[in-house]
Amino acid sequence: MRYGFATGAVALVLFGIVGCTPPAQQQRRTEAVDKRDFGKTAAGEPAELYTFKNANGAEAAITNYGGRVVSLKVPDRAGTIGDVVLGFDSLDGYLSPNPYFGAIVGRYGNRIAKGRFTLNGAVYKLAQNNGENHLHGGIKGFDKAVWKIRAADARSLELNYLSRDGEEGYPGNLDTTVKYTWTDHNELRIEYSATTDKDTVVNLTNHSYFNLAGQGQGDILGHQVTINADRFTPVDQGLIPAGELRGFAGSPFDFRQPHAIGERIGAADEQLTFGKGYDHNFVLNGAAGTLRVVARVTEPGSGRVMEVLTTQPGMQFYTGNFLDGTLRGKGGKVYRHRYGFCMETQHFPDSPNHPNFPSVVLKPGERYQTTTVYRFSTAR
Ligand code: BGC
Repeated sequence: MRYGFATGAVALVLFGIVGCTPPAQQQRRTEAVDKRDFGKTAAGEPAELYTFKNANGAEAAITNYGGRVVSLKVPDRAGTIGDVVLGFDSLDGYLSPNPYFGAIVGRYGNRIAKGRFTLNGAVYKLAQNNGENHLHGGIKGFDKAVWKIRAADARSLELNYLSRDGEEGYPGNLDTTVKYTWTDHNELRIEYSATTDKDTVVNLTNHSYFNLAGQGQGDILGHQVTINADRFTPVDQGLIPAGELRGFAGSPFDFRQPHAIGERIGAADEQLTFGKGYDHNFVLNGAAGTLRVVARVTEPGSGRVMEVLTTQPGMQFYTGNFLDGTLRGKGGKVYRHRYGFCMETQHFPDSPNHPNFPSVVLKPGERYQTTTVYRFSTAR
């Protein structure tokens, strides 16, 4: 079987040694690191693009600008490779306003109400970049940082970012490392870790937009979704949780059995109206801290399947409700309403203001450590 890659000439460079890719299907992966220039930020900082091709010929590309997953090329049921994440061909696309395509989000994934929280009796005021609320770490979150390369080899990339005390209003110097690994089982494994020198709050996630039919190929309403959760955290109009953990009781939020995303997204339901579709945190079943399968998505046309495994207690299921056709992405594809969905594994939104939610406080001497895996396969 041959995989038709549209990558053109790929420079395989390992410490100056040029590697050779055998024709047709690879049985073993080359140990060379595929690294190339991705452009420069407005401040002149260079960004790089790392491409990882596994033993099946499936491929992941990641840049250290925002730690963004730029492409994920995986086979459909006929073996044809397709790119299943939204994004841009060059750094310029990522430097222009976009809704966190592929990014590492931090210090705090999702919203903190009114951009404020209290910790040890002190009030911390954060950037308010989403109406009156704080979203995804603020004006210059981790998605816009140029991360240092800690290590890179043929299957993994370790990125590091030091977020300074006071950045976007958060206390403490937060030293964050994210390791991406592209395995020979078509899994993107993401390991997050962080330490601090003052008590702080932290909630890191990845904001990839998936479309298993192929990026830019249409909306995601036909994707079949299963989520292993019995409850979610309902929100107000500003998408801030009230603090309740609500059971589904036959509502459009019940994904314990597979449902097409589009099946109930238009139902008369206050929560769907507030989210303009699904934009909610699901309280995942199973023990947080244990890597377990929490979601499965299948795309009937291509047969592609994505499973999500995580150690996290929650997952924001977002159906691209704010995509509106104004962004043109990879290969000139226009990203229209609901052309991608996100499964952002994380702690619950606004946790610093909800003592009944699992704690997001990190203290000196502790290590924040979470793992999430996006695993791709196919079904008949
Ligand atoms: C949020 C959405 C937001 C999107 C892009 C998601 O995580 O829940 O409300 O529009 O990110 O910023």
